[in-house]
Amino acid sequence: MRGLILSIKMIRRLVIVLIPALAVMLFIPAFSAAAGSDEIVCIQCHSKLQGKYGEPVTLWQGSIHQENGIACNSCHGGDPRDAANAMSPARGFLGVPKEKDIPAFCGRCHVGVLKDYLSSLHGKAAGTGGPTCVTCHGNHKVVKASLDLINEKNCSRCHDFKQAEIIKMAMASTESRILIIDAGINGLKQKGIDTDRLEKGLFSVRNSFHSLFHTVDITRVEMETTRIQAELQKLDDLLKIMDDQQRQRKLIGAFAVAGALLSALLAYLLRKTYGRF
Ligand code: HEC
Ligand code: HEC
Ligand code: HEC
Ligand code: HEC
Ligand code: HEC
Repeated sequence: MRGLILSIKMIRRLVIVLIPALAVMLFIPAFSAAAGSDEIVCIQCHSKLQGKYGEPVTLWQGSIHQENGIACNSCHGGDPRDAANAMSPARGFLGVPKEKDIPAFCGRCHVGVLKDYLSSLHGKAAGTGGPTCVTCHGNHKVVKASLDLINEKNCSRCHDFKQAEIIKMAMASTESRILIIDAGINGLKQKGIDTDRLEKGLFSVRNSFHSLFHTVDITRVEMETTRIQAELQKLDDLLKIMDDQQRQRKLIGAFAVAGALLSALLAYLLRKTYGRF
């Protein structure tokens, strides 16, 4: 009887402890879902609008920004939690940038690119016939950038394609080396080798390389390409050394195993032959 009362008490105590715990557990997912895109009032409302006010939602779905949690309010400002005041300037709403303001608008997050762009002939001609970020990348349907963006259709709208092609060629050879080294690093990594140093090296080379295009300065691209190729050569050498070391270690390992097997066999034979003594 006493035992039964005790266990009822225990159950009551457990319930008292468990209910708030359960409530918290149910609450936390609710909180994180609030950050999901269906909870953002901008998207809830704009997806019901027509034409140029609804289109941005469809274009933005599947963009690299959507994949990385950069929503309407990340670019346009405003309050994504309060439908009534979402587009109030008092809540930081910036509206639609004028053409000449687009570089600074995008460049808040892409600082290195902005710097290279502003120093370029394109940047200097922004607002007076030069391309801005959205001319080449689009505004809402922004996807991962690549050298494929440099093509006759995109680049001969304002001038001939010749200059553009020279830059593209210089960059393409570097791009393919980066890809080869990247594959090499991944190969070593899969064998469980510490590739931290190599990865960091490649990361910084790759970053300076990818914003380089925005200077659209052929002399600078060619000069920097030489420097970047030299950096890549160093990484490639290091990769080869690590690969050789790994192969040697494997060979030594194989010899050690073969040696151990051989001595075990020898011991066995010896015991078999002389064991009876
Ligand atoms: C309750 C509906 C509603 C919500 C919520 C809402 N919008 Fe709008 N938005 C509109 C309508 C309607 C227009 C077009 C008419 C106007 O400018 O008021 C508009 C226009 C805009 C424009 C274009 C403005 C211009 O000057 O042409 C932008 C940019 C914009 N919204 C972004 C946002 C962002 C960012 C959020 C969230 C922080 C948001 N909206 C939330 C309904 C909404
Ligand atoms: C990466 C930044 C970015 C994101 C994210 C973004 N926008 Fe925009 N949006 C822009 C830029 C830049 C312009 C001006 C484009 C131009 O002039 O070509 C613009 C223009 C607009 C316009 C005006 C369209 C017109 O033709 O007048 C609306 C409306 C708008 N955005 C709504 C949204 C909504 C809704 C979302 C979320 C689904 C969103 N935007 C997400 C950058 C962004
Ligand atoms: C004339 C066309 C053009 C303009 C203008 C332009 N870009 Fe680019 N952008 C490119 C091309 C081409 C690449 C790909 C370069 C590469 O793969 O090396 C690129 C690459 C990028 C990348 C990827 C860099 C990386 O690290 O991988 C970002 C981010 C970017 N651009 C943002 C911007 C922003 C922000 C602006 C405006 C300040 C801008 N771009 C203006 C054509 C352009
Ligand atoms: C609030 C910050 C923010 C703003 C504003 C912003 N972006 Fe981005 N952008 C990001 C993030 C985060 C990523 C994904 C990570 C990355 O690749 O850098 C990204 C990725 C990109 C990429 C692909 C980079 C790659 O690796 O190939 C391009 C191109 C790009 N943005 C262009 C733009 C343009 C054009 C605008 C203006 C219309 C803009 N961004 C405004 C944050 C921003
Ligand atoms: C909206 C118009 C426009 C577009 C689109 C455009 N450019 Fe330009 N570009 C200019 C202007 C303006 C200049 C500076 C003066 C000139 O050469 O006409 C320039 C200059 C250049 C230069 C420098 C030429 C030199 O004399 O050193 C290169 C290289 C270049 N652009 C490459 C590109 C590439 C690559 C693309 C496509 C990804 C592109 N441009 C798209 C307007 C544009």
